[in-house]
Amino acid sequence: MSTPVLSVPTKVDRATQAETSRLTPRGPGRHTTQETLQRVARETVAPAKLVIASHREPYQHVRRDGSIRVIRSAGGLASALDSIAQATGATWVALGSGNADRETADATGRVAMPPDKPRYTLQRLWIDSDEVLDAYRRFANGCLWPLCHVVYVRPQFDRDQWEAYREVNRRFAEQILRAVGDEPAIVLLQDYQLALAARMLRDAKPDLSLVLFWHIPWPNAEVFRILPWRRELLDGLLATDLIGFHINYHGFNFMETVARELEVHVDRERSALKRRGHRTYVRSYPIAPDALEIARTADMPTAAQAATSLRRELGIGDARVILGVDRLDYTKGIPERLDAFERVLEQQLPGWDNTVMVQIGVPSRVDLPDYQALQSTVSDRVDQINARFGSPGSPVIHLIIDNLGFDELIPYYVLGDVMAVTSLHDGMNLVAKEYVAARLNDDGVLVLSPYAGASRELEHAIQANPYDIDALAQALSRALTLDRDAQRVRMRALREVVSAHNIYDWGRAMFRDIRRLHLTPEVRTAREAV
Ligand code: UDP
Ligand code: G6P
Repeated sequence: MSTPVLSVPTKVDRATQAETSRLTPRGPGRHTTQETLQRVARETVAPAKLVIASHREPYQHVRRDGSIRVIRSAGGLASALDSIAQATGATWVALGSGNADRETADATGRVAMPPDKPRYTLQRLWIDSDEVLDAYRRFANGCLWPLCHVVYVRPQFDRDQWEAYREVNRRFAEQILRAVGDEPAIVLLQDYQLALAARMLRDAKPDLSLVLFWHIPWPNAEVFRILPWRRELLDGLLATDLIGFHINYHGFNFMETVARELEVHVDRERSALKRRGHRTYVRSYPIAPDALEIARTADMPTAAQAATSLRRELGIGDARVILGVDRLDYTKGIPERLDAFERVLEQQLPGWDNTVMVQIGVPSRVDLPDYQALQSTVSDRVDQINARFGSPGSPVIHLIIDNLGFDELIPYYVLGDVMAVTSLHDGMNLVAKEYVAARLNDDGVLVLSPYAGASRELEHAIQANPYDIDALAQALSRALTLDRDAQRVRMRALREVVSAHNIYDWGRAMFRDIRRLHLTPEVRTAREAV
């Protein structure tokens, strides 16, 4: 199988060079700005419409204690796509999920976002049956999520949930079609919750340009073949023109899976799959955060002050800090990280002394038993380790269960001497890249699982297998004792990688391929007409 082309920008955006050189390493120095992406998107999309669709909305309105607050949704997809939507002014279709979402949107579910500086339209979609919604979520998160992550949590196969998943995808397709109207359009579908929507859209409006980005891993064909409804799901995905993954390996697995399950022509030369006359290109686009924005925020005096206040509030004095930032998800390897830290302490490995762990855990999918069990396991393990190695008022692990806003999170990145990303399997892991982007002094150490997509690019992290607790403990110890020069060499190299490709490059690479591969609505419409 040929390697899907890794798309990278070709032009240096010189306008930003002066500003960025202080905050990001010079390195390759190629930066796509929000303005550049705006221009590229306009050139690619116009005069068509651009619609983004995802299960999770970027912001929720939540009523608490009598007042309404806006909360940024947790997860890499929502935070990354928000930047793309802001740059392109797209319409974003997503499920309404906050308890004040209806009263803050207009009668058709539309609301301008982000709330403080509106740049795009969020089109909320309501599913009135709680039963259907719940079953759809369970199929996505209790079946497809563990199936694709291969973390030994058994996927649940339930026909009613599969049918609810199909039904919610149909409702998404209807809402997207309403947003598009009669105009030509590019639709950017996001992730595993919407695998069937493309087929429904294609059947209803053949001239649409359909792109789907699969943010999670794609397992090998042998694992995927246990899914009873695999052929219909794959057929749905093959209605797209372009399907994106974070890393090549997931694209290979996808092509191999399709070749095993359906009658297709595998076009290795083009890295595409052709079925019944329709071609779907398979490409990888590694997602990245807005490194410059993170660096700017980390550079503000308020970030350093906030980090100092955190030290005081947590009562950790000058202790070294191992930081963890994750949704409370069993794919993130949080219990394994706690076990490894416990081993550092019990074996008094170098660096054990005067070290604490700060773990931010964002509650996630709390209605699913596997997630409830994980949350209890994590709290119990933290209590046990604190009882063993801490003292009253001085725990060795601070577990903060919260979903922090962007400005609240950056001081933690500034605080962390060591960042532990120990995913058992992860599509990318933006947190790893965000930490690097925030380390303006080139200090700090990233300990990274080789099973996170980010490990492909972040080769200068200390990599350790999270399934091997001894190896992970050794890696933490090594990170805690790395001298300043060695930290600088590694962090500098990491920052060059992270600052070379940002979230706008990610969007731009996809728009560039839409144009190069002749997938624009203009070309598609002309093709349909003959
Ligand atoms: N995040 C956040 N608040 C928090 C913790 C995390 O906004 O309290 C964000 C974080 O900045 C990152 C995203 O959530 O952008 C997590 O993305 P990642 O790819 O690491 O993992 P995912 O949750 O998508 O599996
Ligand atoms: C991951 C998935 C996203 C999802 C996010 C949060 O990043 O790839 O699709 O939105 O987790 O999960 P949730 O179930 O809360 O949407």
